Amino acid sequence: MSEEALLALRSEFPTLTKGVHLISHSLGPVPRAARAHAETFLDEWENDSINAWAKWLPAVRDLADVIARVIGVQPGTIAMLPNVSIVQAVVASCFDFKPGGPFGNRNKIVYDELNFSTVHYVWREQARRGAEVVVVPSADGIRPPIEALLNAIDERTLLVPISHVLFRSSGLYDAKRVIDHAHSKGAMVLLDCYQSAATVPLELEAWGCDMACGGSVKWACGGPGAAYLYVRPDLLPKLQPMNNGWFSHKAPFAFDMGPMEYADDVWRMIGGTMPIPAIYTARAGWETIAKVGVESIRKKSLRQTSLLREFVEKRGFKVNTPSDSSERGGTMCFDFDGAEQVSRALCERRFFHDYRPRCGMRVSPHFFTSDSEIELFLEELDRARAGDPTPKAASPY
Ligand SMILES: Cc1ncc(COP(=O)(O)O)c(C=O)c1O
Repeated sequence: MSEEALLALRSEFPTLTKGVHLISHSLGPVPRAARAHAETFLDEWENDSINAWAKWLPAVRDLADVIARVIGVQPGTIAMLPNVSIVQAVVASCFDFKPGGPFGNRNKIVYDELNFSTVHYVWREQARRGAEVVVVPSADGIRPPIEALLNAIDERTLLVPISHVLFRSSGLYDAKRVIDHAHSKGAMVLLDCYQSAATVPLELEAWGCDMACGGSVKWACGGPGAAYLYVRPDLLPKLQPMNNGWFSHKAPFAFDMGPMEYADDVWRMIGGTMPIPAIYTARAGWETIAKVGVESIRKKSLRQTSLLREFVEKRGFKVNTPSDSSERGGTMCFDFDGAEQVSRALCERRFFHDYRPRCGMRVSPHFFTSDSEIELFLEELDRARAGDPTPKAASPY
């Protein structure tokens, strides 16, 4: 899709007239159609009562299949869950970290210190159940420490739960290299694609990825409550989550009180009732991404993040994102004295982005961003930095 066609999609996001959105690494803008889909959910509930489930359950599978297209896996291989923390906990509950069983004597969990905190919290606590948790340090706090990570993966490693794109620097892992190496040692990879899906092209099936997850809040423009878990189909029979629920059962409506009989497909990971309102609101964003195609999003993103980098370097700021396009995702992170305060002023002026400790300002153009918005953002930043309390008089939107 051409950049002109991408900009034409702005009309599908009414919120873009209300501020400059450079914050899709944290919260993607709401599409107009999300409101319509939310209303459809309420209409179905109101008009169809219990019969609405005949639409709601297929809607879960339909959304999962749209996401499957975006991340490069077969339809029917994704389970929808409320958030990534729960995804991690469900996966963790498939292991008992004891010798024997389907995963042999493996009890080692390996990831790096730039992982997203929620993932660390879930896995760190698995030490109470016998996991050996190895957190690989980063040399610079910016690039994924891939060599150290690969060195830490050995014959006792069970799982490598890493972020594909790091939230703090937008540093990008060479996922295929990690997966290949993990497999050579008999370990599995759970790739958190929250910061890469919908902005970096993914071919998870072709890469042989074991498991992957993410959510809808950020680059997918889908709002909270609709996270996903992909499992490579041949791996499924080995995964029997202790965190389960009636929809993980082969026959949920049999209400059988015997031992758990897991569904053959990925729904064995799904647990209880799905977050249906979130499934409805998430759909429009993912459909837009699937229609646009992540290749064109990436091309534009690399151009605009390079532009941003140029502007930022001109001002002498410290850039905390790798410069090489093969090493970064869709965000540009930079810092300077007083950045936190300036960032707060910019957000008040509706130039939406954020500030994170040990990172600085995080700024993310997406497929709908115009070059002039980036220029206006930097002009406003200059004004705020100079202590000018008044936003530019003319509306930038
Ligand atoms: C890489 C990554 N993983 C996970 C999360 C969030 O996890 P959860 O869905 O549990 O809130 C975020 C950000 O919110 C993230 O950037």
